Amino acid sequence: MPPKIKISPSLLAADFANLGESIRAVESAGADELHFDVMDGSFVPNITIGVPVLEAIRPITKLPIDVHMMVVEPARFAQQFADAGADIFTIHAEACDDLETSLGDARIAGMTAAVSLKPDTPVSVLQPVLPLIDRVLVMTVEPGFGGQSFMPEMLPKIAELVDMARVAGTDLEIAVDGGIKVDTAGSVIDAGATALISGTGVFNFTDGIEAGIKALRSAGS
Ligand code: DX5
Ligand code: ZN
Repeated sequence: MPPKIKISPSLLAADFANLGESIRAVESAGADELHFDVMDGSFVPNITIGVPVLEAIRPITKLPIDVHMMVVEPARFAQQFADAGADIFTIHAEACDDLETSLGDARIAGMTAAVSLKPDTPVSVLQPVLPLIDRVLVMTVEPGFGGQSFMPEMLPKIAELVDMARVAGTDLEIAVDGGIKVDTAGSVIDAGATALISGTGVFNFTDGIEAGIKALRSAGS
C-alpha cells in the first residue's frame, strides 16, 4: 500500500487578519498538520511570526504544528517553542554550529526533531545525525519567501534520502517545502516525499482550500 501523503498548509499564505478562520478552514478541509514559518531577518532576508502568534493559535487547533525555524542557532528557542505548543521543530542544518546538540535540545524539549536542507546543501550532512531525526525537510525553493517556483533539480535529493533511510534501516519522513502545487506535487510524491508543505498551493487554489488539499494529496501516479 502506498504511504499516506500528509498535507501541511503553510500559514505564511493564510490571511493574517483572520488567522483563526484560515486555520479552522484548513483543519476542516482535511489538513494533516500546520506549517508555521519563523524567519529572523538574518538566516533569511525576511521576518515573519514567532512565539506569541504560536501561543495564540495553539488553543484553536488540534493539528500538529511544525515550526520551520529559518533562524540562526534555532536551538536557543527550542524550549520556548515547545512551551508554546510546537510539535515538530524543523531546524536548518546550515543555521546550526553544532547540529547534533541542536537536535538534542529539540528532543529534550519534547518535540519531534527535523532537519531542513537549503537547495545547495547535500543530504550527506545528515549521515552523522540520522539516529537523532525523525524527519527531513527538503527545500524545493530558497527559503525566505512564499510563492516561488519549484526547483525540479531537488527531486534526486528526495530519492537519495529514501535510499539513505533504507540503508540505515530507519524510518525517515521526507517533507518538501516551496512551490508545491497541483502540477508539481506528483513529482515529489513519486520521488518518495510523504509530507507536502504548501502555502499558495492550498490557500490560493482556484477551487478553494478543500479542493486544493485533495488535489495535492492525490497528485502522485
Ligand atoms: C518559504 C517557506 C514556505 C512557504 C512556501 O521559505 O518555508 O513554507 O510558505 O510557500 P509556497 O508553498 O507558496 O511556495
Ligand atoms: Zn516553510
